[in-house]
Amino acid sequence: MKTILPVMLLGFVLFALGGCTRNNDYMPLSGATGEKIFKEACVQCHTPVSGNVMILRPEMANADAIMERVKNGKGIGMPAFPNLTGDSAQSLAEYVLINSVTR
Ligand code: HEC
Repeated sequence: MKTILPVMLLGFVLFALGGCTRNNDYMPLSGATGEKIFKEACVQCHTPVSGNVMILRPEMANADAIMERVKNGKGIGMPAFPNLTGDSAQSLAEYVLINSVTR
C-alpha cells in the first residue's frame, strides 16, 4: 500500500494533464466588440506586450485558425471557449489579428 498510492497519484496527475482541455463557459454579451471580449476573457493570460496581445506563428495568423483555437482550446494552458462562435468569434479573431505580430 505504501508504494501503490504515489503511483496511483502520479497516474492520475498524468491523466489530468494529458487528457482534455478545460472548458471556459464565458458567454459574450450580444453585440460585444472583439476588444471587449478579449479584455473580459483573454487578457488575464494574453497580456499585451508593447501593444501586441499575441505573437502568432504564421500558420495561426488567420481568422479561421484563431477561431478554431478559441473554440477548442489547446493542451493544459489554453481553455476551450465553446460559447465563442459566430459573429462574436469573428470579431474577436479580427481584434486578435489586428493587434498581434506574426513571427
Ligand atoms: C487560462 C489562460 C488562457 C486564457 C484565458 C486564454 N488563453 Fe489563449 N493560450 C493560452 C496558452 C497557455 C496558449 C499556448 C497553448 C499551446 O500552444 O500549447 C494559448 C494560445 C492561444 C492562441 C494560439 C497562439 C499561437 O500562435 O499558437 C490563440 C490564438 C489564443 N490563445 C487566443 C486566445 C483568445 C482569443 C482567448 C480569449 C477568448 C484566450 N486565448 C484565452 C492561455 C490562455
